[in-house]
Amino acid sequence: MSSPITSTTTQKTRPLALVTGASAGIGQSFARLLARDGYDLVLVARDSMRLDVLAKQLEHEYGSQTEVLPADLTKVDQLAVVEQRMGVNPPIDLLVNNAGFGTFGSFHELPLDAEDREVRLNVLALMRLTHAAAGPMVARGSGAILNVSSVAGSQPIPGNATYAATKAFVTSFSEALHEELRGTGVGVTVLCPGFTRTEFQERSGFEGGRVPVFMWQEPDDVATAALAALAKGRTVCVPGSLNKVANAFSNATPHAITRRLAGSVIRRT
Ligand SMILES: NC(=O)c1ccc[n+]([C@@H]2O[C@H](COP(=O)([O-])OP(=O)(O)OC[C@H]3O[C@@H](n4cnc5c(N)ncnc54)[C@H](OP(=O)(O)O)[C@@H]3O)[C@@H](O)[C@H]2O)c1
Repeated sequence: MSSPITSTTTQKTRPLALVTGASAGIGQSFARLLARDGYDLVLVARDSMRLDVLAKQLEHEYGSQTEVLPADLTKVDQLAVVEQRMGVNPPIDLLVNNAGFGTFGSFHELPLDAEDREVRLNVLALMRLTHAAAGPMVARGSGAILNVSSVAGSQPIPGNATYAATKAFVTSFSEALHEELRGTGVGVTVLCPGFTRTEFQERSGFEGGRVPVFMWQEPDDVATAALAALAKGRTVCVPGSLNKVANAFSNATPHAITRRLAGSVIRRT
């Protein structure tokens, strides 16, 4: 992003971004790219050691002031600490709601606890942090929110039912807020990546080895596309030509067809 969103406060000269899920994958890419572009950062995830290492690197390489805020965002009390961070100085200029995970398998056979945490993280935490950020941003007349969804949110996916539903929420919610906040100085963009080489598949128990090589993207490329879309005030960012085509097909085709297709692809992979 060539021109970082400018802070309205007089106490600081560098904009401040809070990135959730900054310890790995796309979130770590966001943190690096934002630090390179002149942001100070608040890094959120559970693994405080990984965040500490990243913070030191960003301070060393880019001179970024970096605050480490370890939190399990599925836990109400720890999420509350991050929510409260939105309301104190220095204010957050950019919130990147990136933390998320998926579960794969037959819903009735999956452990309910993991499904519960998936909804808490992908939906509830994202919604609550957006609320905590949007109020102060609207009051200041500036700020931006980047929510990470998925192309999986464009259709029901048998074998990945809860995850696809959480991402459908993220996409719909973010698109609605983009319109609600039009004219307030606060931008909302939703990122819908496809297969991206991160720890996501391993953590989710998804066997990514059968997915053709040409379908994968690197996290830096995905985060770069998202930040460019945010800077242009775009509503939705689908990175990569293949994902754009797949997403357009999902949006234009009745669910009766896409859910059957998705089910057969998931069964084969
Ligand atoms: N990779 C893909 O193919 C793909 C495709 C579409 C969309 N996405 C979305 O992209 C986003 C980032 O995923 P990724 O691919 O970068 O996966 P990743 O490499 O597994 O990273 C996930 C990040 O979320 C954090 N996290 C997980 N559970 C958390 C919790 N309870 N509280 C706080 N932080 C938590 C992890 O850190 P800790 O373990 O340290 O907490 C990690 O930093 C997710 O929303 C995902 O749904 C990914």
